[in-house]
Amino acid sequence: MPETTRAPQPMPALSALMRAQPHDVRARGDFVLALKSWAVRDCARLVHAHYDERIAPALERDGALSNTSAEDRRRVKHELSGELIFQLWCKLSYESQGMKWEFVDRIVHQHLETLQRAADDYLTREQPLGSLTLNPDLELPANIHNNEIHRQPRGFTFEYHDRDISAGALYNMGALIGPAVAAGRGRLSRGRSAGDFLCELVRQRFPELEPRDVLEIGCGTGRNTPAYKRTFPEARVQAVDCAAGLLRWAFVSAESQGVAIDFSQMDITCMAFPDASFDLVASHIVGHETSKKHLPLMIAEAWRVLRPGGVMFHMDVPIQRGRIDLCDQVLNDFQVRHNGEPFWTGWIDADIPALMRAAGVPDACAFVSYDSPPERNSPWYCYGARKPL
Ligand SMILES: C[S@@+](CC[C@H](N)C(=O)[O-])C[C@H]1O[C@@H](n2cnc3c(N)ncnc32)[C@H](O)[C@@H]1O
Repeated sequence: MPETTRAPQPMPALSALMRAQPHDVRARGDFVLALKSWAVRDCARLVHAHYDERIAPALERDGALSNTSAEDRRRVKHELSGELIFQLWCKLSYESQGMKWEFVDRIVHQHLETLQRAADDYLTREQPLGSLTLNPDLELPANIHNNEIHRQPRGFTFEYHDRDISAGALYNMGALIGPAVAAGRGRLSRGRSAGDFLCELVRQRFPELEPRDVLEIGCGTGRNTPAYKRTFPEARVQAVDCAAGLLRWAFVSAESQGVAIDFSQMDITCMAFPDASFDLVASHIVGHETSKKHLPLMIAEAWRVLRPGGVMFHMDVPIQRGRIDLCDQVLNDFQVRHNGEPFWTGWIDADIPALMRAAGVPDACAFVSYDSPPERNSPWYCYGARKPL
């Protein structure tokens, strides 16, 4: 790979590329955003109202429904499946997700050469701040490699060539749209990262922790990784993921922000780090993308590489069984089967305290909590533990 000596150009901002589209393309983007918002928020509310007013009372004539019963979930699904409002929600959720990716994919490919050229400057830099270590021989984990998670076109692990950043560009441009949809507003800025919030919680709960080595697992495009370095500037921060195209984007993004992070391509269920290598092991929205087989392994690996006195802190989606009602469980079930979230049901049903116990985490050290940053209208599910000295 040729090495470059000139200063790298700044990476073009994805939100700016979106805003710079011609009027017709932006109008289509606005429409997709509005449609997706309506499906995700308003139409889902109508399904709920119908469930509360009609479906649940009819089913409860035979006895109270339980949010933790798989049989009740099946009964509610059966009833909802025949209802027009539920069918409309299914159709709109599916179609608006497809339209989102069509829109994003088109813009990314329109600018791919420019993005790649800018990324190449960082990828071939003589003295990078951090590092990027890829492993082309890695056996890619089936949960990610065999699925188009979120229905991202071609999936997280797709690569056109061995410098390709397209998967990362797609992931991040798609992620710009998510919060705008959830908040019901057409704003494309991300604001504070979830990593900043996770670090804030670690600081509050473990104020004496001064990590020397920090690891983020399942870092994806590194949207949250710089937060660890900003919060713990003295620490060496490493981050791992299995998807090379996401990791390249993560590395380029960290370098362009002037943040030194060492990224490596690894399977988080069997990492190449010795036992007790890190003082903080963290993840963000990773557990719910792992299968029933991979989730216990991920937790056990995070615990294995943690030093005595260190903290394991995972943050994920707050959709545990018993916490969300049967109607939401059925909506989730649709996303699992048809809309690129193949592991949500497994995640909903996962008994995280039991999985931590099975990984060797003493109950007395473990925590689970729901924590809301002020800028979000729903909480994160946080779980982890401090390793005894
Ligand atoms: C939903 S993404 C979250 C990415 C990032 N943490 C964020 O908040 O944007 C889940 C990430 O976990 C990674 N992942 C899931 N299972 C993995 C495994 N077994 N080994 C390595 N990475 C994995 C995926 O490649 C993906 O980047």
